Amino acid sequence: MAATVTHDLIMKTLEGVNDPELGGNVVELGMIRDVTIDDGVVEVGLALTIAECPLRSQIEGDTKRRVLSVPGVEDVVIRTTAMTKKQRSELMSVARQKARDNAEPTQVSSTTRVIAIASGKGGVGKSSMSVNVAVGLANLGFKVGLLDADIWGFSIPRMMGATGRLEADAETKLIEPTTAHGVKVVSTGLIVESEETALMWRGLMLSKALEQFLKQVNWGELDYLILDMPPGTGDVQMALTRMLPQAEMVVVTTPQSAAQRVAIRVADMARRSHMPVIGVVENMSGEVFGSGGGTELAEELGVPFIGSIPLDHSIVSGGDTGVPAITDSSSQAGAALREAVDQIAILIPPADLETCTGRIAKLIADLEAGAA
Ligand SMILES: Nc1ncnc2c1ncn2[C@@H]1O[C@H](COP(=O)(O)OP(=O)(O)OP(=O)(O)O)[C@@H](O)[C@H]1O
Ligand SMILES: [Mg+2]
Repeated sequence: MAATVTHDLIMKTLEGVNDPELGGNVVELGMIRDVTIDDGVVEVGLALTIAECPLRSQIEGDTKRRVLSVPGVEDVVIRTTAMTKKQRSELMSVARQKARDNAEPTQVSSTTRVIAIASGKGGVGKSSMSVNVAVGLANLGFKVGLLDADIWGFSIPRMMGATGRLEADAETKLIEPTTAHGVKVVSTGLIVESEETALMWRGLMLSKALEQFLKQVNWGELDYLILDMPPGTGDVQMALTRMLPQAEMVVVTTPQSAAQRVAIRVADMARRSHMPVIGVVENMSGEVFGSGGGTELAEELGVPFIGSIPLDHSIVSGGDTGVPAITDSSSQAGAALREAVDQIAILIPPADLETCTGRIAKLIADLEAGAA
């Protein structure tokens, strides 16, 4: 039986679409004029501050991906209009109020693209992908953070060759991430010094630890935050949805074809967390395990196939020595990883702010002139 698509569910999902320059989601900013549902086809009326907003395609794209991630939705039609002056001024007062209310947000900026690397089962290479994607994006010139959301099963410090410890700044009381390969890294593995500390941490709830990492870490302005998800994810997914509504998912799978079964699990994960799936990466493809599982899963989920990474010793040795394989210019895996990262940067480009800062200043000036 097809899932029932409700108005409430679509609105909830749309809360994950941010207008990065206004620092709020499109629902609270009153940018959703209407939503109509006809069987599996959802029509969204989207009102932008001005018609030629440079963020238009980004917001439309995000809206589309979000809504398509709702089970039962087959197609999305977006009708974009420009706000009237009155609507714009209402929106600006909401935006200003929000900026004030948000005195206690996470340290992750709403303009940061958050990518959770997840899978339908364990041991498929999530952590390996996370480090390589993070380092790959940093090498493209982006500001990148890597958060090890595998609180107890951490493998990021070893794979990144990160040996520094996390220290709190005496003044701000914020935890400073350690840096490796140009990426800001945070992991429980960088705190736990002794068995005793480990036990103390174990006493903390999983979601509490994650909350600390999002609220108490001085992430700074990041283009991307990569999250290495633990296997079998319930609690962590929930905590993430609450704190990072802009998170989206890259699914890693192996070449063996069990597409339908994995798809059900992934779709369920995505539904519970309202996270759209950016695309699928097939890992460990080649003669041993074959290939094809990734494209099949992508088809099954109706999302882009990002690429396949061969089964290659350079990934294992890169993980063991803390020098991610993506930096290896001679290996086949390194080349495949670089291609996959290029694809990810195309599918989920960094929020483009440069062009908007000036515009928003002008908008506020206009409104204030109008109000005077
Ligand atoms: N393409 C590859 N070729 C060869 N070995 C690989 C490849 N990808 C990952 N591995 C190896 O497979 C093992 C599991 O990888 P990894 O730890 O990244 O998986 P995971 O999905 O994060 O696991 P878990 O679910 O336990 O967190 C590691 O030893 C890693 O080096
Ligand atoms: Mg892992």
